[in-house]
Amino acid sequence: MRIFSGIQPTGVLHLGNYFGAIKQWVDLQKGNECIYCIVDYHALTNEDMVPEEMRQARESLAMDLLACGIDPNKSILFVQSDVPEHTELCWILGCVTSFGDLTRMTQFKQKAKEQEFVNAGLFYYPVLQAADILLYLADHVPVGEDQLQHLELSRRIARRFNYRFGELFPEPQPILSKGARIMSLADPTRKMSKSYGPEHYIGLMEAEDSIYRKVRSAVTDMGLQPGQDMSPGVANLFLLLELVAPADLVEDFRVRHKAGKLLYKDLKETLFKYLVEFLSPIRERRRELEARGEIKEILAAGAAKARKIAREVIREARERVGLS
Ligand code: AMP
Ligand code: TRP
Repeated sequence: MRIFSGIQPTGVLHLGNYFGAIKQWVDLQKGNECIYCIVDYHALTNEDMVPEEMRQARESLAMDLLACGIDPNKSILFVQSDVPEHTELCWILGCVTSFGDLTRMTQFKQKAKEQEFVNAGLFYYPVLQAADILLYLADHVPVGEDQLQHLELSRRIARRFNYRFGELFPEPQPILSKGARIMSLADPTRKMSKSYGPEHYIGLMEAEDSIYRKVRSAVTDMGLQPGQDMSPGVANLFLLLELVAPADLVEDFRVRHKAGKLLYKDLKETLFKYLVEFLSPIRERRRELEARGEIKEILAAGAAKARKIAREVIREARERVGLS
């Protein structure tokens, strides 16, 4: 399979991103051709993005991804705007995209509602996303649930192009992240996210004392009541524990919880210990990457590889539509 996926360079990676998306990216490298893209053109639709932050966030995210296990010798990791063919294909695809379809995108409608100035890039965002995928003739795209509508649109765009100009693009299928949906420790009814503020996520590179504070103050309950399910906060702590601690330990904690013999303080202290243990090699690799200072070269090499594929496909697309 040829896999393509993208992530916006905004802020830091947190445990939700890792277990919900990046871990799957890493695992898919086994046996597939993977292309992973830091989508800075998409990030530009964000009204709060400032230029210096953009420059810095791209390289920082790239190092985070490498530290998590993306291997630049196996996969292509690159920055979207280093391959300007993305915007060229975006325009061509826009001309086989239904305006009505774009007006029905729920992410657009949601974002348009939230802000005063709605830039046209936000409206065109899903066309650029289709271009990202189709530019590499990718057939599988690992995404979270919220991106399924955009992927469905990508298939419609591919179909319409193929119908008008002859078969060129495969219709990309989603690989729905079976990863865990991690909730905020401070408010376990909402997902772990940067949007709600620093109390609501744990960054992969965050200082240990800060992680400790967040874990210790995680919302729990008054203990399991007979006939009741676990509260969302405790379920979230167990979920995290399952992801980082040995299975028999988690089982033991579950049994103790059921019997009403588990102190949440112990659950939290143990979770913290295994979290730190789990994060430590990632953080160590991240430090090494930073020290080596080769990220620019790695991204340039990734862009060169991506561009080789992109150029061929653009050449073919231009010919099909009569631009060359
Ligand atoms: P975002 O930065 O929120 O756009 O997220 C980037 C990726 O991480 C997306 O693929 C999301 O599906 C995934 N993700 C973000 N937050 C969580 C979470 N709390 N639990 C699981 N996956 C998440
Ligand atoms: N829109 C995606 C998100 O917010 C990011 C993205 C851009 C993407 N281009 C893509 C994801 C292509 C998959 C394939 O998560």
